[in-house]
Amino acid sequence: MSTDDSIRELLEAARAARNNAYAPYSHFDVGAAVRLTDGSIIVGANFENASYGLSLCAETIALASASAQGRLSDVIAIAVVGGESSPVTPCGRCRQLLTEAEQVAGRSIAIYCAASDGDSVVRHSVAELLPFAFGPNDLGITPSRKSQE
Ligand code: THU
Repeated sequence: MSTDDSIRELLEAARAARNNAYAPYSHFDVGAAVRLTDGSIIVGANFENASYGLSLCAETIALASASAQGRLSDVIAIAVVGGESSPVTPCGRCRQLLTEAEQVAGRSIAIYCAASDGDSVVRHSVAELLPFAFGPNDLGITPSRKSQE
């Protein structure tokens, strides 16, 4: 599969996951899809709560699912789809979680952001979205890698 096809497929997975967003409070549906080193995809969708502050972002769900499957260190890219005409970008908390995944993986993670309508896709890096980040490396911690590769 070409790189472009792979990115398109990842965005489509995020777009499909968006249909499962549970966002009855904000009505702002977001889907995310994480690509792993073996080519597999793990998805997430935002998961809101009546207590508002407990709401979880699509990216958080996707990354936590990857971790629950022992695959956090295998994340190579994430696609996020949300917003109407302009692409949604990860919130501050999700940027921190992406930093964790990046440092655990020991490689940079590409972030593809798209709106729910329209074709525009913006590619970001974690360093660009969260410069001077604090992560496990700053604690001298090399989290144990559980790669299935
Ligand atoms: N949200 C995400 O899931 N990802 C983002 O990148 C931005 C915001 C969710 C959180 C909340 O459920 C809703 O969108 C409105 O903030």
